[in-house]
Amino acid sequence: MRLAVIPGDGIGPEVVAEGLKVLGEVAPDVETTHYDLGAARWQRTGELLPDTVLDELRGHDAILLGAVGDPSVPSGILERGLLLKLRFELDHHVNLRPAKLYDGVTSPLAAPGDIDMLCIREGTEGPYVGNGGVLRRDTAHEVATEVSLNTAFGVERVVRYAFERAVARPRKHLTLIHKTNVLTHAGSLWSRTVEEVAAEFPDITVAYQHVDAAAMFFVTDPSRYDVIVTDNLFGDIVTDIAAAVTGGIGLAASGNLDASGTNPSMFEPVHGSAPDIAGQGKADPTATVLSVGLLLDHLGRSEQARKVNAAVAFDLSTRDRAQPIRTSDVGDRLAALA
Ligand code: NAI
Ligand code: MG
Repeated sequence: MRLAVIPGDGIGPEVVAEGLKVLGEVAPDVETTHYDLGAARWQRTGELLPDTVLDELRGHDAILLGAVGDPSVPSGILERGLLLKLRFELDHHVNLRPAKLYDGVTSPLAAPGDIDMLCIREGTEGPYVGNGGVLRRDTAHEVATEVSLNTAFGVERVVRYAFERAVARPRKHLTLIHKTNVLTHAGSLWSRTVEEVAAEFPDITVAYQHVDAAAMFFVTDPSRYDVIVTDNLFGDIVTDIAAAVTGGIGLAASGNLDASGTNPSMFEPVHGSAPDIAGQGKADPTATVLSVGLLLDHLGRSEQARKVNAAVAFDLSTRDRAQPIRTSDVGDRLAALA
C-alpha cells in the first residue's frame, strides 16, 4: 500500500503520528510519503496545492490527512484552494461519516439508545460547487447567488453507494434526508433516484425525512438510523450533530471517497487543527485512528480494519476518564491493542 500523508497544521501532525503508529502495527507493508501542505506552506511559499503535488498524490492508493488551518490564514483560502480542490480534483463524491456510540463513551443525550449510523454525504455537488456570484458588492443593492448543482449522474452514484453499504449492514435500512417540500427541483431528482435504485435492492427498507425533522431525530431518537444518504450541505450539518451525540470531535472520523477507485480516497478526522491545544500533546488521536480504520476497510483490508476498530472500542470502554488525554499514550495503547 502506497499512502500519501498530509499531516497539516496544529494538532494535525500530532494525531497523524499516532494514526501511523497504529497503521504500522496492523499493516507493516505500508509505504508512506509525507507532503507538506497547509497553512504553514502557504505562509512560507504562497502555495496551496501545486499541480506537481496533485499529480504525485494521484499515484498513491490513499491519502491520510491530519488537519489544515491557522488563525493567521484568512477564511476560505485553504478551504477552497486546498481541501475543496482536493475533493473536486480527486472526485471525492462520497463523504463517509460513521457515527457510533461506543461503550464507555458519554453522549450528551439523556437517552441516547444504541447509535450506529453511517452518514453518506454527497461531496462534489450541491451548493458547494462555487456556482454563483456577486453583483453591486458593498452597496444596498448587493446581489449574491450560490446555486445548488445536482446532476442525475452525481446523485445516482452516491445513492447507489449508500444502498451498497446498507445491504452489507445487519439492519438494511436507508434514510434519505432532504427538503423535498421546498427544494422541489433538486428534491424531486433525489427522491426519484432513491426510488429507482431501491428497486434493485429489495432487501433494503427506505425512509425519507426532511432535514429539519432529521435534525430533531438526531437528538431525540438517533437509534432509528442505519445508513443515511443526503446532499452536500445537509450532510455537512447533520453529520456534525451525529458526531456531537456520539462523543464529539475527538472521535469523529471521515473518508472522502472516489467510490469508482479511479483516484485515491482521502481519510481524515473531522476536527480541525485546534490551534488552542496544538503543541501540548493533549489532542485525542482516536478520530484519526478510526479514519485509518475506514482507510483499511476501503482498500479491502477488512481484517486489519477490524483490528483497528476493536482496539479503539476496547480502549474507549476501559479509559480512565479522570486522567487527561496524552496524545502519544493513546496511540501507544491503541498500537499495542491492535
Ligand atoms: P477545531 O476542530 O480545530 O477545534 C474545535 C475545538 O475542538 C477546539 O476547542 C479544539 O481544541 C477541540 N478539538 C479539536 N480536535 C480535537 C482533538 N482531536 N482532541 C481534543 N480536542 C479537540 O475547529 P476550529 O477551532 O473551528 O478550527 C481551527 C482551524 O482548523 C481553523 O483554521 C479551521 O479552518 C481549521 N479546520 C480544518 C479542517 C480540516 O482540515 N479538514 C476542518 C475544520 C477546521
Ligand atoms: Mg463540517
